[in-house]
Amino acid sequence: MSGAAVGILISGSGSNMVALVKAMQTGEVPARPAIVVSSDPQAAGLAKASSLGVPTAVVDHRASGGDREAFDAAVNAKLEEAGAGIVACAGFMRIMTPVLTGAWAGRMLNIHPSLLPLFKGLDTHARALEAGVCVHGATVHEVTQELDSGAILGQVAVPVLPGDTAGTLAARVLTREHVLYPRVLAAFIRDPEAARRKPIAIFPDT
Ligand code: GRF
Repeated sequence: MSGAAVGILISGSGSNMVALVKAMQTGEVPARPAIVVSSDPQAAGLAKASSLGVPTAVVDHRASGGDREAFDAAVNAKLEEAGAGIVACAGFMRIMTPVLTGAWAGRMLNIHPSLLPLFKGLDTHARALEAGVCVHGATVHEVTQELDSGAILGQVAVPVLPGDTAGTLAARVLTREHVLYPRVLAAFIRDPEAARRKPIAIFPDT
């Protein structure tokens, strides 16, 4: 899949998107960023993508009035117009329907801020603290119709430290997400089957 074109879906600050784009631009990830699509016109990531020279598009989820299929079809159209062959969700805060998950089955990744299958869904860092775990982290997985449940392609472990708040823990995890996601995307683009067979595990200070 070398020479792949990657579409990146965001809704917010886009720091993972920046990590992926930079890794493509340095050659760490053997692909080019085809487009960044945001579900939110106010997403700070849009300006970051533009400053990196990546085309952007907005599909405002509010414009589809709750019609998730219509929203997904509009996102899909942007990805296809841009020639994307693979999709990386990076802080894309929308529940997807089969319109998107079906179209990109086997070609769509997501990063989730927990060690899946623990803490699917939102507020993962607060829930990790509440549960009393001492190891937390992030996961890159394939996207399927079931939320946060596709095949695990890589995980990074992050220590929970005394005095952590959800904010301090989130910040520690996020810096490691930026290491994990490019490594997993590179492996997946090179050989998806091998990436599925041998997920990448990253431990603290590696
Ligand atoms: C990250 O923690 C990611 O794991 C989660 O949403 C956050 C997005 O952050 N899905 P950013 O927009 O990449 O900065």
